[in-house]
This record gives sequence, structure tokens and C-alpha cells, in this order.
Amino acid sequence: MTEKAKIILPDGQSFDFPVLTGSEHEKGIDISSLRKLTGYITLDPGFVNTGSCESSITFLDGEKGVLRYRGYPIEELAEKSSFIEVAYLLINGELPKKDQLENFTNRINLNSMIHEDMRHFFEGFSQNSHPMVILSAMISSLSAYYAEASGKASIENLEINSARLIAKISTIAAFSHKKSVGQPFVYPRDELSYSANFLNMMFSVPAESYELDPVIEQSLELLLILHADHEQNCSTSTVRVVGSSMANVYASVSSGILALWGPLHGGANQQVVEMLQQIHEDKAGISKYIEKAKNQDSSFRLMGFGHRVYKNFDPRAKILKVACDKLLNKLGTNDPLLEIALELEETALTDDYFIERKLYPTLDFYTGIMYRAIGIPLNMFTVMFALGRVPGWIAQWKEMHEDPKQKIARPRQLFTGHTRRSYTTITERH
Ligand code: CMC
Repeated sequence: MTEKAKIILPDGQSFDFPVLTGSEHEKGIDISSLRKLTGYITLDPGFVNTGSCESSITFLDGEKGVLRYRGYPIEELAEKSSFIEVAYLLINGELPKKDQLENFTNRINLNSMIHEDMRHFFEGFSQNSHPMVILSAMISSLSAYYAEASGKASIENLEINSARLIAKISTIAAFSHKKSVGQPFVYPRDELSYSANFLNMMFSVPAESYELDPVIEQSLELLLILHADHEQNCSTSTVRVVGSSMANVYASVSSGILALWGPLHGGANQQVVEMLQQIHEDKAGISKYIEKAKNQDSSFRLMGFGHRVYKNFDPRAKILKVACDKLLNKLGTNDPLLEIALELEETALTDDYFIERKLYPTLDFYTGIMYRAIGIPLNMFTVMFALGRVPGWIAQWKEMHEDPKQKIARPRQLFTGHTRRSYTTITERH
């Protein structure tokens, strides 16, 4: 028998709503008929308590620090898988067999070049343009190049459009870096792994040969895997909301990129390193910043601390802490910012303010240090997040379009403005 939850209205009328149970026993009350039956809506700013969909892609338990893609623990994928395999898993639901992985990889490689005309787009951006703006604009421009993708969403062509997105975002990201440093674009090379190809496009120059460091390649693979999906976060919800209007996958992902850019979301990785740099240059020590973060009158927050859903620890951060140490040791990097980061982490983790509010370091806290060691410039950090998140966005977009229950996203509001009043002419206004 279906479980029911009862809502009793102020006038005493009561209504039953079905209780749904997820595969990990989490409970949800289906209130989709609430307004129709009662005239009431639910109010939940920031959607802290609202499930927008049923999903079988990523499972996250913020209390226990669990993250799984399609059932596979993130720890296992991080150790054993590759980014492209994880992309296949997220989009298609199962780990690929050998031939499936080969076909998927070939399709991505075959689509790594961007249309030559799009090279000129980069010339239109000012030297100081943030690469996230360039990335979003370029990804949305892809709809102009693929006739079957332009206009409304089409699930039939998603296979080819996914390959284009995964492949071209890496080329576009590297080109936008080259534009910002005034170096010639380096074209993709199909024989390289996804991460190696990206590093080559980022760092090689025609004047000298580029030695690819396998330690850096592995670190990048890991970073991309850990970013690949995170269920219904701000940018993923954006991709779903935009896609729900039947906008095509490029338009949806391009919107997701802009949502990701915000400092409270993906932009945090850049902000973390900026904060560490500021603390380093200030030389006043970390306690000043801890106090500032705790001060209710200050808007300052410790970037990289706190998460909407992780209220214990972020399993991605746990993996990265070890990987970060390993990378810096292998590269022999002595980064003063890492010392500050570790001191900050230790102090915050033993401070009542952070303990009571369950504020722990998230993956953004460590990614910045790793990107710095790899040589990725600061303004490209959030682009790296986007590169990793693309398979997740595609998988969520696909799932939404395949779900017969999905409707165009259209939240309600509780109106608190003026009730009806009459227009006054300009001379009557006081
Ligand atoms: N530093 C200091 N205080 C904080 C911080 C922080 N980083 N994060 C939250 N708080 C305090 C906040 O002031 C509030 O205190 P009080 O209850 O006294 O008013 C309490 O903790 C709860 O915060 P909230 O803003 O209501 O929590 P939220 O779930 O709405 O916000 C968050 C989550 C990630 C936006 C927030 O923790 C934050 O701003 N963190 C810093 C930015 C950051 O690192 N973002 C990356 C998120 S992880 C990557 C991703 O998934 O995109």
C-alpha cells in the first residue's frame, strides 16, 4: 500500500499526498497536486527542501559523505576509471564494454575541432574577458553550426551532440586561454587522452616541444572525474530548467556554465586561491580571516568551506587532499598558499563556529592548489570545473527529456507586493 502524508489546512480540511521512497530509502512527499486540490503552494526559497525530479544518475548522502555515480562509489571511480569512461557511465547508465568505450572515444576525438569560422569569434572578445564568458558564448554558438541541433531540443541527436560538447569544450577552453596570453591556438590531437590533449592545447607552443608529465595528466583525469556530476546543484538545475523549455542542449549547457561561474558555486575554486593569496600578502595571519568569517556583520566567508548538502565531509575533498599532497611532492612544489590552506583547515575544523554550522572544506578548497601546481592560470579554474561537469549536465538533460513526468519548469511565488491601485499621472506623484 502506498504510504501517505497528511496536510491539515488552517480550516481543518485534511488532504493525503503520496509518499515516494527512493532506492536509498530517502523519502519524498509528492505535493504536485497540492495547489490544484487546496489552492495552497509550498514556499521553499533556494529549494533547500524541494525535489525537482526523480533521478537515477548520482546519489549523494551529505550526512554520511557518500557520493556515487550510477551506483559506483566515487572513491572506486577515482582510483580505477578514466574521465571518458565516467562520462559514458553517467550518460548511458552502465560502464562501457571495450568496443563501446572505443566507439565513444572515437566519436569524441572525431569532433574535437571547432569550425574554423569560430576561431574568429575569439578576436571579438577583449583581452580581459573572463574565460567563463567566452566559454558560455562559444558553447551557445555551437547551435548555430549544427542544423539538427538548432532550435528546439532533440533527444534523437543527443549522441552526436554529446560527443561534440565533450570534445569541443576542451578545445574552446584551451583556445580561450591561448587568446588571453596572446599565443597561437594549438589544435587538438586525437591520439592523446582527453586530459593529455587538453594539456597539450593549453601549454604547447610552436617554438618548442612540450613534454607531457604523466603525473599531471593523472591528476587532471582525477579532477575531471570528481567534478563530473553532483545531482541537482545550481548549474545542473539551470541546465534542466533551460532544457525544460525545449531549448537545445548547447543552449542549456551554455546557461549552466554561467550559473557555475558564480562565486558561491563553481567560481569558489578561483575565490579560494584569491583568498589564500590575500592572506599570504596581508601577513596578518589566518586568525584575522577566521574572525572576519565568523563576524555576522561582515559578508566575508571562508571560500571553499560549507556546502548545501555535505554536512559532515565532502568525499571528493577527502580524495583530493591525498592527491594534492602526492602531486606537490612529485612536482617538488613548495607552495606557501598550501601551508596557509592547511593552517586554515585545521583552525576552522576545531572552531565552534564552523563545527556548529557543519562547515567543512569542500573540493574547491583543494582544486585551486592542484590547478596552480599544474600551471592552470587562476581565471581558468572555473573553466576546469565546467570541463569536468559537462558529462553530468548532458546526462541530466537526457534524463529529463526521457522522463514522461517532466514539465516545463515554472515555480510559483507568494506575492507580497501592492494590491490593486490606480495609475497616477506624473504631476500627482509625491
Ligand atoms: N564561511 C563562514 N560562514 C559560513 C560559510 C563560510 N564559508 N558558509 C556558511 N556559513 C554560515 C552562514 O553565515 C550561516 O550562518 P548563520 O546560521 O549564523 O546565519 C550558516 O553558516 C549557514 O549558511 P547558509 O549560507 O545558510 O548555507 P547554504 O547551504 O545556503 O550555503 C554555501 C552553502 C556553499 C553557499 C555556503 O556555505 C558558502 O557561501 N560557502 C562559501 C562559498 C563556497 O565555498 N562555495 C562552494 C560550494 S561547493 C562547490 C559547488 O558545489 O558548487
